Amino acid sequence: MSLPRPYEELLSEVLVTEEQLKKRIPELGAQISRDYAGEDLVLICILRGGVMFLTDLMRHITIPHSVDFMAVSSYGAGARETTGQVRITLDLTMNISGRNVLLVEDIVDSGNTIASVLAFLESRQPKTLKVCSLLDKAESRQSEVPIHYTGFVIPNKFVFGYGLDLDEYYRNLPFIGVVDPKKYTPPN
Ligand code: PRP
Repeated sequence: MSLPRPYEELLSEVLVTEEQLKKRIPELGAQISRDYAGEDLVLICILRGGVMFLTDLMRHITIPHSVDFMAVSSYGAGARETTGQVRITLDLTMNISGRNVLLVEDIVDSGNTIASVLAFLESRQPKTLKVCSLLDKAESRQSEVPIHYTGFVIPNKFVFGYGLDLDEYYRNLPFIGVVDPKKYTPPN
């Protein structure tokens, strides 16, 4: 197996800088803290892309809250893109019935993942169910989904870093970068 290339060889531009993230995420945390003041709150993160955002966001949420995780995958090759169907591969450990649930995502692209997850969680009868996404690729939407808290609306570009992977690498980058299509070849 060949080693991944340094990210600099694949990057065309930095779309959201580390400084922008460090400014915006505390703003989101403050807003969430105000909106849920005096309420019970559970954050749900969809593995794996949302983890970096979750851990930074929760440091700026000043009210007590719980955290739980879930994971999803497509039903078959291409199914997620074409039908929007996702399968729950890791269920919650917590009971969310009657609780205020805030879904924390790194990116809403087609919206198919969030649409499926919202339907799944709604069946568990939370008190409220809202969405916080760091990135909103608004022009790519296939499924209309509500996003109650948005970090940045971004253009339809192939992005990586800050939790988002490129072939499962580079999630550790402290910024959101754009992949240069001239330098990147997808694996077979
Ligand atoms: C990404 C991201 C969202 C989803 C958004 O996950 O974390 O869950 O895609 O895309 P959509 O709006 O078109 O459904 P990915 O499948 O890359 O898995 P990962 O989180 O493990 O990187």
